[in-house]
Amino acid sequence: MKFEALFKPLQVGPYKLAHRVAMAPLTRMRAERESFSPRPLNAEYYGQRATKGGLIIAEASPVLSHGRGNPATPGIYSEAQISGWRKVVDAVHAKGGIIFLQLWHVGRVSHSSFH
Ligand SMILES: Cc1cc2nc3c(=O)[nH]c(=O)nc-3n(C[C@H](O)[C@H](O)[C@H](O)COP(=O)(O)O)c2cc1C
Repeated sequence: MKFEALFKPLQVGPYKLAHRVAMAPLTRMRAERESFSPRPLNAEYYGQRATKGGLIIAEASPVLSHGRGNPATPGIYSEAQISGWRKVVDAVHAKGGIIFLQLWHVGRVSHSSFH
């Protein structure tokens, strides 16, 4: 088989990945419209893609309200958002998956209409 290393385990800090094929971060713009919290749909989406020992890098998520560059991207700066992400993480962990979150601040391109 070609690329055998792809299917070999990998230790990443404290995380033992079963293989080296990871899900790349994909902005979905599916957060709750008022609070920018992940919704049950987000938990379902990531839970569907979780596999035992597989790594998911979740979508880029603004760390501040003025760091947003797209509509409906789920943030990680309020209690409601953290609690929404908790449900996402629980859905992934329930399947034995590993999930990291990509942190995001778009900088000066963040238009005031997003604030
Ligand atoms: C709809 C969509 C959303 C994406 N969102 C992100 C993102 O949130 N963060 C990121 O780093 N890359 C993002 N990307 C880039 C993908 O992660 C990238 O396309 C993937 O790693 C495949 O790499 P390639 O396009 O070089 O083949 C996005 C790509 C698409 C198509």
